[in-house]
Amino acid sequence: MTQARHFDLLIRGGTVIDGTKAPRFDADVGVTAGRIAAIGDLSGCTAADTIDATGRIVAPGFIDAHTHDDQALFSDAGMDFKVSQGVTTVVVGNCGISAAPLKPGMDLPMPLSLIEAPPERRYTRFRDYLDALKATPSALNVAAMVGHSTLRAVTMSDLNRPANEAEIAAMQAHVQEALDAGAIGMSTGTFYPPAAKATTEEIIAVGQPLTAKGAVYVTHMRDEADKVMEALDETFRIGKALGIQVVVSHHKVQHPRNFGNTRKTLAFIRETMQQQRVCLDCYPYTAGSTMIRSDQGMLDGKVLIASSTPHPECAGRDLADIAAEWGVDRHEAAKRLQPGSAIYFMMDEQDVRDILAFDQTMIGSDGIPLGDKPHPRLWGTFPRVLGHYSRELGLFPLETAVWKMTGLTAHNFGLQGRGTIAEGQAADLVVFDPERIIDRASYADPKQPAAGIDAVLVNGALTWQQGRHLGTRRGQVLSRTAP
Ligand code: ZN
Ligand code: CU
Repeated sequence: MTQARHFDLLIRGGTVIDGTKAPRFDADVGVTAGRIAAIGDLSGCTAADTIDATGRIVAPGFIDAHTHDDQALFSDAGMDFKVSQGVTTVVVGNCGISAAPLKPGMDLPMPLSLIEAPPERRYTRFRDYLDALKATPSALNVAAMVGHSTLRAVTMSDLNRPANEAEIAAMQAHVQEALDAGAIGMSTGTFYPPAAKATTEEIIAVGQPLTAKGAVYVTHMRDEADKVMEALDETFRIGKALGIQVVVSHHKVQHPRNFGNTRKTLAFIRETMQQQRVCLDCYPYTAGSTMIRSDQGMLDGKVLIASSTPHPECAGRDLADIAAEWGVDRHEAAKRLQPGSAIYFMMDEQDVRDILAFDQTMIGSDGIPLGDKPHPRLWGTFPRVLGHYSRELGLFPLETAVWKMTGLTAHNFGLQGRGTIAEGQAADLVVFDPERIIDRASYADPKQPAAGIDAVLVNGALTWQQGRHLGTRRGQVLSRTAP
């Protein structure tokens, strides 16, 4: 029994899963001045505010390892689609795309426009973007990366070739500026047209400033289908040349002919982990989502249109039905629907399970906060891992599931003071019902908050409670402490 103390907020009677993978234990959690002040039997203590967590799990707030929320943090600052899942921190700037640096009037080639860029929020320097986030906090903490495709678009006159020396120097200067301002790393998206012509050497050269800072290199790889092993090899070579941690984004193996190849990719990742710092993230669905592409490989399976600028009425519809209605093939229909975003059913459930269950895999939603019919991962990722994959399927214990979205992620991204429940840690906390937690967002009805989340605290401030956003905006900009 701890000596009687007074806290700002006391979570009483819950079972703590602390984000380290350690077994759960019963304890009260006291919060003061935005931090976890005490853990244990606090029954003699008082508090300004109390949450009854009887029968509930108290866990660190979830960290979404992979998001495209760069601009939603301003335009949708409540961030309901993430807070409602128990998320308290988002990592932005993924897949080579970031909100900065941009030029005021420049055109944004797809997929850069997957994150909005209204005239009043076009930041020419990364520092301006982070300053704006600090000046107008959202409900969530954010750790930001600078995107290589964005750097190419802002630096190069022609994206259909490798960068020349002057362009590489200019991109390097932007990376340095971003890191000095507080970016935690750089991402690439060589899968996408704006960076498809970038060579391995270009990426290593542009990434030079990452080394001294011990920043991360995060990648949507050049190929996640037939040539996924070559793409992994390139990723590891870049990480090795720069001497930094690499993150393989939303790891997957696409197309039926490649199903089962996660046996090879995961073995390769595991083996490389012995020699250099490698980690990966994954979302718990067999469909992906990105810009509308018309290349045949992407259109092999079922495709749902998520948003379309020329045909907004097509959101939520099957591409095959639209094509039939228009009397054209799917390839032509996809072209007419561009620019926009779509959902592609292209993975094998067993592969998804094997990647999720791989011990070092972090959970990242890759949600795209755009349009009326987004991929359900935007609203459902974390409760789906906890409720469906851990509880219903028994893929791993709840302690492991929580670790994959808290302690492991904070460690890999160097987010010190986050991701675990311990005295002195930031009070990013979620209280949930382990028997009831589940995603309710579906492909047909994707904007549904999860069930089973009681309360979410961000930096000690109650932000979501019993299905309601409290309007709290207490998010901070987080920096990286290199391990
Ligand atoms: Zn991606
Ligand atoms: Cu992404």
